[in-house]
Amino acid sequence: MNSPKRYLVTSALPYANGLKHIGHLAGAYLPADIYVRYLRAMKKDVVYVSGSDEHGAAITIQAMKEQTTPREIVDKYHAILKQNMADLGISFDIYHRTSDPIHHETAQEFFTSLNNRGELEVKETEQFFDEEAKTFLADRYIVGTCPVCGHPNAYGDQCEKCGSSLSPEMLINPRSTLSGNAPVMRATKHWFLPLNKHENFLREWILTEHKEDWKTNVLGQCKSWLDAGLQPRAVTRDLDWGVQVPLADAQGKVLYVWFDAPIGYISATKQWALDNKKEWEPYWHDKDTKLVHFIGKDNIVFHCIIFPVMLKLHGNVLPENVPSNEFMNLEGDKMSTSRGWSIEMEDYINDWIRKDNGGDSMADVLRYYLTSISPETKDSEFTWKGFQDANNNELVSIFGNFVNRTFVLMHKLCKGKVPVLHADIMDESDRRLFTEISASKSRVESLLEQYKFRDAQFEVIDLARKGNKYMQDKQPWIVAKQTGENGLPNAEAQQQIDNCLHICLQLTANLSILVNPFLPFTARKLCYMMKVVDKMLDWENAGKSKLLSVGYSLREPQLLFRKIDDTEIAAQIEKLKLKTRAMEEAKQASGETSPSQPEPAIDKPVDVSEKENPVKPEIVFDDFAKVDLRIGTVIKCEKVEKADKLLRLEVDLGFETRTVVSGIAMHFTPEEVLGKQVTVVANLAPRKMRGIESKGMILMAEDKNGKLHFVNPEGKIDEGSGVS
Ligand code: 2FM
Ligand code: ZN
Repeated sequence: MNSPKRYLVTSALPYANGLKHIGHLAGAYLPADIYVRYLRAMKKDVVYVSGSDEHGAAITIQAMKEQTTPREIVDKYHAILKQNMADLGISFDIYHRTSDPIHHETAQEFFTSLNNRGELEVKETEQFFDEEAKTFLADRYIVGTCPVCGHPNAYGDQCEKCGSSLSPEMLINPRSTLSGNAPVMRATKHWFLPLNKHENFLREWILTEHKEDWKTNVLGQCKSWLDAGLQPRAVTRDLDWGVQVPLADAQGKVLYVWFDAPIGYISATKQWALDNKKEWEPYWHDKDTKLVHFIGKDNIVFHCIIFPVMLKLHGNVLPENVPSNEFMNLEGDKMSTSRGWSIEMEDYINDWIRKDNGGDSMADVLRYYLTSISPETKDSEFTWKGFQDANNNELVSIFGNFVNRTFVLMHKLCKGKVPVLHADIMDESDRRLFTEISASKSRVESLLEQYKFRDAQFEVIDLARKGNKYMQDKQPWIVAKQTGENGLPNAEAQQQIDNCLHICLQLTANLSILVNPFLPFTARKLCYMMKVVDKMLDWENAGKSKLLSVGYSLREPQLLFRKIDDTEIAAQIEKLKLKTRAMEEAKQASGETSPSQPEPAIDKPVDVSEKENPVKPEIVFDDFAKVDLRIGTVIKCEKVEKADKLLRLEVDLGFETRTVVSGIAMHFTPEEVLGKQVTVVANLAPRKMRGIESKGMILMAEDKNGKLHFVNPEGKIDEGSGVS
C-alpha cells in the first residue's frame, strides 16, 4: 500500500498478570513506538493502540498464586504496566483494557456476527471436569506425569521440564490443581472457528500477496502452519472469568482469551474515538487503512492466521504487515520473569529513572541500546556491559559530546547566538556535511518504512559521528587562538569559527528531528536548548540547512547523557544473580518444579564479573558493622526432601545450635559438609524454606569456574568466634 489514508498501529496486549521485562519492550512496543513517532512527524493520520490482556488462565492462575481475585490482579498490573510504558516513552494514543465493558460488548458482537452467519461450528467434546470444584478444567489447571520424560508435575498443555507440547489427555495420572483430585471426563459444548475452510484464502493472502514485504521469519512460520494443515479451533471455554458467550445456551462459558484479546485492538480504537470525538469505523473498515501489528514471535500464528480469518469473516481490514521480532536473551540465557532471569521494566525504571535526577534520559539510553540490539531477524543478547558501552561510547562520546561541544563553543566564541554563515569562504567539507544531512534523512526514512529500526538508528548516530569529525577537523578552539590586538580572534579566524558553529548548530537541529522517533526525551531537551517548539521536529524540516536563524540566542547546554560507571553495572549483575537465586530458593521451598530452560547462569560466569569481578558499590563502615559473622561447626547435615539444591545443616555456634538451609546440594554431599567449620551470617532474619525455618546463611566463595568453597579458619577454632 503506497500512500494509505490512515494508519492503525497495534502492539500486542500484554497479560496483566505480572511485571513485563525489557525483552517484551524490545519486541512489540519500542519498534512500534519508533514507527508511530515517525509517522506522526510525517503528519500522517495514525492511531496507536494497545492495552492490557486481562482474561485467560494467565490471570486466574496468578490470582490463585497471590491468593486474591482476578479483578484485583488485573487492576494492579494494568496500572503498573500503563505507567511503565509511559515512563519509557511508549506513546500509545490509548492503552486500554479488555475487562472494560466496551470491550466485552465489542467481542460479543464479533462472536454473534460470525455465529449468525454460520461461520462457527458447534461441537460436543469430552473434557476434564473437577467434581469437587464443580468446574471444567482449563489445560493449565491439570497436572500429571509427563508421558515423554516422566516429570510428575507437567501441565495439561506443556511439560515445563522437557518442553514437550501436551494435551491434558496425554498426562499420566492427571489431577486437578484446584482440588488435587483426579478429574473425570464430561461432555461439553463448544464453538469452533473452522480454520481449515480458510486455508486457500490464507495461502493467497500471505504467501502470494505478501511474500515480498513480510519478514522471512514470519512467512516461514505461516508456511509451516499452512503446510501442516489447519484444524477447527475452539473459541469458547468453560470458565467464569472472561467475556461471556452471548448465547442463552452457553451459561458458564466465556470466549477463549485468544479470540477476545485481538478484538481488543478494535475496542481500544472505539474508546479512543469516543475520548477524542473521532470516528473509529474507517480505521477498521476502510480499505485505505494500513493496519500494522507489532508482536513477538510467539504471537505469530494468532496475528497471521487466526485473527486475519476472523477479520475477513467480520468484514474488517486485514493487516498490511506483522513485523514480528525474535527473542532477546539476557547475559547468555533466555529471559524469564518466572526464573528471575530478566530485567523488569519496573525495576529498570526504579533503578535508573526514578532514582536518577533528570532520569528520563535513562529511558532514552534503554531505548537506544534495545534498538541497537533489536532482534529483528534473529535472537539477540542484552548484556549490562553492552548497555554501558552503548551509553558511554556512543551516546555520551558521540552524540552528547558533539552537541555539548557545539553549544559550549557557540557560547564561548559566538556570544551564545547562531553565527552568520559566510558563504564566500565555505569549503568542500562544509558543503559535504550539508549533503550528508539530507542523505541521512532519506536513508533513515527508507529504513523506517521497511521496519529496519536498528539500521535506521545507526544512521542517526553515524551522522552525529560525522559532525564530531567535522568539528575535530575544523578545531574552532585552535582557530580562536589567531587573535588580533584586542586579544579576540581576528576577523578571518572569526569567520571560520562562525561557519563551523553555524553548520554544527544546523546539524544539531537536524539531529533532533532524526533522533526524535528513537530518543524522544533527548529530542525535546534539544528543542529546549535551541529554544524552539516541538513543531520543529516535523519530519519535513529534516534535511534543511536553515532551521535556526542567524542571531537567535540559544540556551546553555544541558547534559544529555551521563557516563555509567563499572560499579553500577556490577550492581545490576549482582542483582540479577541474587534475584534468580532467591526465585529458585522460593520455588524449592514451595515445592514448585524447575522450569524447562537450562539453569540460569548463577554459576556460569557472566561477562563483566568473569573478566574483572568488579567490586560492589561502596558502603560505609556502619553498614558492614551490622553484619554479625560467626564461626560454627556443622554437627548434622542432610538433604532436604524433594529439593535437589537444598541441604539442611545443624550448626553449632557455641552459644546455640542453629538450623540453616543452604542451596549447596549440587556442590557438596552431606558427608562432605559434616564436621566442617563454616562462617555464618548469624543475625540474618529467619526465612522459611520448604517448611524449614532457616536461621542464618553460610558464606561461600565462588571461584572462576563456578565451584563453591567454604569460607573457614585455617585451623579449628572455638565455635561462636566473631569474624570482622
Ligand atoms: O502473549 C501475550 O502476552 C498475549 N497477551 C498477547 C495478546 S496480543 C493480542 F492479540 F491482543
Ligand atoms: Zn516432560
